[in-house]
Amino acid sequence: MIKQITRRARSSTTNYSMSNVEDTRIAVIMVGLPARGKSLIAQKVVRYLAWLSISAKAFNVGSYRRADTPQPTADFFDTSNRDGERLRHAAAEAAVADMIKWFDNENGVVAILDATNSTKARRRWVKQRCDANKIETLYVESKCDQEELIMANIMEVKTTSPDYKGQDPEAAAKDFRNRIRNYEKVYQTIDEDEKDLTYVKLIDVGGQVIINQIKDYLQSRVVYYLMNLHIKPRSIWLSRHGESNFNLEGKIGGDADISVRGEMYAKKLPELVENSVGPDQKLTIWTSTLKRTIQTARYLAASPKGYDKLEWKALDELDSGVCDGLTYQEIADRYPEDFRARDDDKYNYRYRGGESYRDVVIRLEPIIMELERSENIIIVTHQAVLRCIYAYYMNVPQEQSPWMEVPLHTLIKLTPRAYSTEEERFKGNIPAVSTFRTKGSTAKHQ
Ligand code: ATP
Ligand code: F6P
Repeated sequence: MIKQITRRARSSTTNYSMSNVEDTRIAVIMVGLPARGKSLIAQKVVRYLAWLSISAKAFNVGSYRRADTPQPTADFFDTSNRDGERLRHAAAEAAVADMIKWFDNENGVVAILDATNSTKARRRWVKQRCDANKIETLYVESKCDQEELIMANIMEVKTTSPDYKGQDPEAAAKDFRNRIRNYEKVYQTIDEDEKDLTYVKLIDVGGQVIINQIKDYLQSRVVYYLMNLHIKPRSIWLSRHGESNFNLEGKIGGDADISVRGEMYAKKLPELVENSVGPDQKLTIWTSTLKRTIQTARYLAASPKGYDKLEWKALDELDSGVCDGLTYQEIADRYPEDFRARDDDKYNYRYRGGESYRDVVIRLEPIIMELERSENIIIVTHQAVLRCIYAYYMNVPQEQSPWMEVPLHTLIKLTPRAYSTEEERFKGNIPAVSTFRTKGSTAKHQ
């Protein structure tokens, strides 16, 4: 019985979040000169979709090319180099063939073909292959001619690429610049002749966005996500609320006040935050609508730095339904089957009359979108919600995310970098109970 409930809950949630995506097959075809952020965009889209339980995979043609030509020099990319042309085409063929196999064999939903696809002929060829296999195509062009930004991109990610392993960074940067020049000779931006294609052009990192012929819901979600991305340096701080009176009693849910020690953490929070935000940097505080997060953020909100503050219902703790206000021991006693079912599949288990982690992720989607658009944000929220947000940034698999330990009275700073997110933790050094429960235990918080 319990299993059935869980299964039904899962499919209804999927339908609610992304209508019939199971029937959709979309190849997102990246377009653009080297060092325009195509791989970064591809990786982010995969991470975002995977977080939403949509099967997604990037196929990087550069990795296929490296199998035969691990360390090419710029002239390899000159179109008058016949060997280079042949090997490059073979790499694109291999990536497209694997992509099609992935759709067929693994029920893939969104594939990203991460290559320059910089000529009209190449784009037509990819479209024909996809059309023949009933795969929709969405072209995403990143166009940017800001020389300074391109040089910074080269220094940030290209000099450390496997293409230049063991080489002097200055020489690597110079060679990469020449590689771009070779591409520039033949590059054709998507234009009027390609009006029949579904595409989005991101010009100057989203400064201007041109959208053409978007066809369905999932395509529009991907495009909306892309429109919100930016590359300005910034961080996201995450903190749970200070210890609450419910935490002290081992009870879950509720809307309790913070404890005396929770209050000490609230007073400490401005110092913890200000030590890691630059002196002239802006910061916006987001809390849930529950008392314990608002109380925890109140000294920070009153800081002379004049931080803005926003309360979000979407940041409220996972709703534990009929179990709200109970201890884990009480849940195990009153609803033993539910207790076991939750341990068996914590991500998908939905409390009677409440939510699952999967439900929380879906309601957090607008929060993630807003976070992508924003600069420095501190989020004061709850254990389950923090796990879900953290899982998005750190790419934590669904089986693991609900079991992550996120202690009270600890500030987590996440800084998105080109291909990863950097994490730092700052302890408040104020004692608190641990609310972490391992699988199978009913341990009271201590
Ligand atoms: P290549 O064709 O060599 O694989 P690429 O286009 O995939 O290059 P990335 O490796 O993704 O380029 O480059 C990452 C760099 O691009 C990062 O430094 C990132 O800050 C920057 N970047 C991200 N998005 C954009 C964008 N829309 N325009 C320009 N640069 C961007
Ligand atoms: O115990 C604190 C708390 O925030 C509860 O209110 C919430 O139900 C629980 O953590 C979520 O953690 P878990 O999913 O591990 O039960």
